[in-house]
Amino acid sequence: MRTQVAIIGAGPAGLLLGQLLTRAGIANLIVERSSAEHVLGRIRAGVLEQTTADLLDEAGVGARMHREGLVHEGYELAFGGMRHRIDLRQLTGGKHVVVYGQTELTRDLMDARRAAEAPTVYEADDVSLHDFDGARPRIRYASGGTTHELACDFIAGCDGYHGVSRASVPAAALTTYERVYPFGWLGLLSDTPPVAHELVYANHERGFALASMRSPTRSRYYLQCALDDHVDRWSDEAFWDELRRRLDPAAAEALVTGPSLEKSIAPLRSFVAEPMRFGRLFLAGDAAHIVPPTGAKGLNLAAADVRTLARALVEHYAERSEAGLAAYSDRCLRRVWKASRFSWWFTSLMHRFPDGGEIGHKLQQAELDYLAGSRAAQTVMAENYVGLPFEG
Ligand code: APR
Ligand code: PHB
Repeated sequence: MRTQVAIIGAGPAGLLLGQLLTRAGIANLIVERSSAEHVLGRIRAGVLEQTTADLLDEAGVGARMHREGLVHEGYELAFGGMRHRIDLRQLTGGKHVVVYGQTELTRDLMDARRAAEAPTVYEADDVSLHDFDGARPRIRYASGGTTHELACDFIAGCDGYHGVSRASVPAAALTTYERVYPFGWLGLLSDTPPVAHELVYANHERGFALASMRSPTRSRYYLQCALDDHVDRWSDEAFWDELRRRLDPAAAEALVTGPSLEKSIAPLRSFVAEPMRFGRLFLAGDAAHIVPPTGAKGLNLAAADVRTLARALVEHYAERSEAGLAAYSDRCLRRVWKASRFSWWFTSLMHRFPDGGEIGHKLQQAELDYLAGSRAAQTVMAENYVGLPFEG
């Protein structure tokens, strides 16, 4: 078998890349180790930067996002019993974000791929990458009890942090940077109305909390929890009680509780692998970098990588130019590191660090107090939250 671009992973990065390539007439095949149902079952943040929303439109999959997505022109920081709004629209000259769950975005991309009759192999086992340091890369995978080999021009490693692509790169060719945070996020999904019209990020001495949403009738909440905590220790009632303690009084009063649809704990880490290209293998999305979810940058960084890679591949096939492919890694990493910095900063500002001591909490309160009163500080936060402009 042969294709032009072999894509490993059918998460947001792989599906969005596949959609952009298919629309550009570039043949591609996606191999995914899980089932489509399993991929859709993942609950992930969906705060889309304007450039991500624009890319979905370019990919022809933005219609439902425009119909059902929630335009948010600000968010609130809760600390010291009060809420302080960050006015994105005013501070960024008219920009906003769109709240649209990653599950829905993934569903839209799957539907579009099915409509285009582009090939996706789900439940593929033993995926391996070969000869990507040469001119004739190949991948192998098992499906339906048969081993398949796919010759291709390029391999896009869109298989996430635990994928096989980055693991296939010789260790000596890779430099990784990692910071694991001393806490996790306990998340709960419920069919209850959100506590506020916009997201509320809370810094409390008991720990961080976030009140988010998926729609006007479906809420998503998070509580900072200990690394050794376990979801079985948290009844719904215990979750709601702790959330009330950490939110400001007005939000706590407005909280509508109900049965959890999903409850899980996720670790937080900052991770970057450099470079993001190895011969004819290109890493994109979580395969190359992980950010703590505080700044909601994971999906947006995956989209930014895919935007850059798709343009470079179109340039290669349409104009026989290698410039975009040669610049891919450096161009992506400049954006990755800025988003990693913002995500680290926002995480450090909002969470209770076990070894931070009382002074750590006091210093956070001082920075939050400064933020609340400084348009300059709010502008820096706002322009990073809505997404920095692309360079070139
Ligand atoms: N072979 C084939 N597929 C694989 C393999 C493998 N060896 N390993 C992992 N995969 C698949 C996973 O099952 C998953 O569906 O690759 C896909 C990777 O998807 P994501 O982990 O969602 O990563 P990405 O597409 O880069 O999207 C980033 O997802 O994790 C969130 O916060 C992150 O919002 C961000 C977004
Ligand atoms: C979410 O809704 O899952 C979410 C929103 C904003 C964040 C993180 C997660 O910063």
